[in-house]
Amino acid sequence: MDYHFARRLDAAPESFLGRLFALSRDPEIISFAGGLPMTSLIDVAGIRDAAAAVFADEGETALQYTTTDGYLPLREYIAARYRSRLGLSATADEIRITNGSQQCLDLTAKILVDPCTVVGMERPGYLGAIEAFSYYQPRIKTVPMTEEGPEINAFSTLCREEEPAFFYGIPNFQNPSGTSYSDAIRRECAKCCRETETIFYEDDAFGELAFDGRPRMPVKAFAPECGVMSGSFSKTVSPGMRIGWIYAPGPIIEKFDAVRQAADLHPNVLSQTIMHRYLTTHDYEGHLSRVRRVYETNCRQMCDLLDDLLPDVFHTTPEGGMFMLATMPDGKDSMALFDACLKESVAVLPGVPFYAEGGGHDTFRLNFSTANEEMITEGMNRLAQAYRHCGCR
Ligand SMILES: Cc1ncc(COP(=O)(O)O)c(C=O)c1O
Repeated sequence: MDYHFARRLDAAPESFLGRLFALSRDPEIISFAGGLPMTSLIDVAGIRDAAAAVFADEGETALQYTTTDGYLPLREYIAARYRSRLGLSATADEIRITNGSQQCLDLTAKILVDPCTVVGMERPGYLGAIEAFSYYQPRIKTVPMTEEGPEINAFSTLCREEEPAFFYGIPNFQNPSGTSYSDAIRRECAKCCRETETIFYEDDAFGELAFDGRPRMPVKAFAPECGVMSGSFSKTVSPGMRIGWIYAPGPIIEKFDAVRQAADLHPNVLSQTIMHRYLTTHDYEGHLSRVRRVYETNCRQMCDLLDDLLPDVFHTTPEGGMFMLATMPDGKDSMALFDACLKESVAVLPGVPFYAEGGGHDTFRLNFSTANEEMITEGMNRLAQAYRHCGCR
């Protein structure tokens, strides 16, 4: 049988996400390539208790069909957190629960992108977003990242000359680089978006994972009408529960509801109800502090080992999140390093798929949230061995 697939599939890059998940299941390999939260930090007992309470008190509604917008108490919880943490004027009406925040990327592109529409992104940028957007056949135009965020002149030129459907960025502890926008760049981005009526899609998957616990003001705070934000409980509570959300102006939410209904009717009500029960009956702040502490320790350890073992490799020094980006000296190729690493039973992620317009051959991403201290030491030594063997040193 000759299967004929839609032309939109031709535009999609080769999916690295599937390969990554496969790698993370091989017990021999110490993987710094994926993006899993540390398994031992998932509060299984707490979530089990929350689930038991939900089944006891509201099992029938939690197992029934529900509305497209998501569980109201959970949307209210998220809105209240935006108000108290960030001083935003969020209401539950502006928030929709999704099946992980990845679904927000797909549905946002579905409502805003026609074939050949320009979408702006950071360079490097989150590969899951590149993949999600690609199915709508955009022209992705990228703006180079500096240590302070996107290079502002290039950002401004993009907004003024290309009229993108939206700019997608990760101001807090970016994936893949771990860098954050400075406060000044956030304000500049907001100003430029206001002037050019550009939507700024702010993926805040890692905002709660600031090592110092200090909230960073989102771009949306300075340009509410331009700001679309997404968030997720995947990195803080549990990725398997698949709960993310979008926070956007009314007209965008209206369209979002329409495509969302067509896609999957509504978010998983059981998961949402359990998540809400967990958040409101357990010490969420205490849990977040624990997660931040472990990730900070891991991150420092990884940075120190990189400095000791691979002194000619430049790396970012994140202040939160789960990732850092390493750049090898001129002419070194991270695909060769990737292959050498697999022979040493360690995995890093070559940077290439994060560069929608090409480049990044000398970079690789390292995750510091999955492995424990012992595995990080062993894995970094294996990485150094691979680095030597692949002729990179
Ligand atoms: C920047 C970013 N956004 C969104 C996601 C999607 O996460 P989820 O769908 O689990 O919320 C990820 C996952 O790694 C991510 O790194």
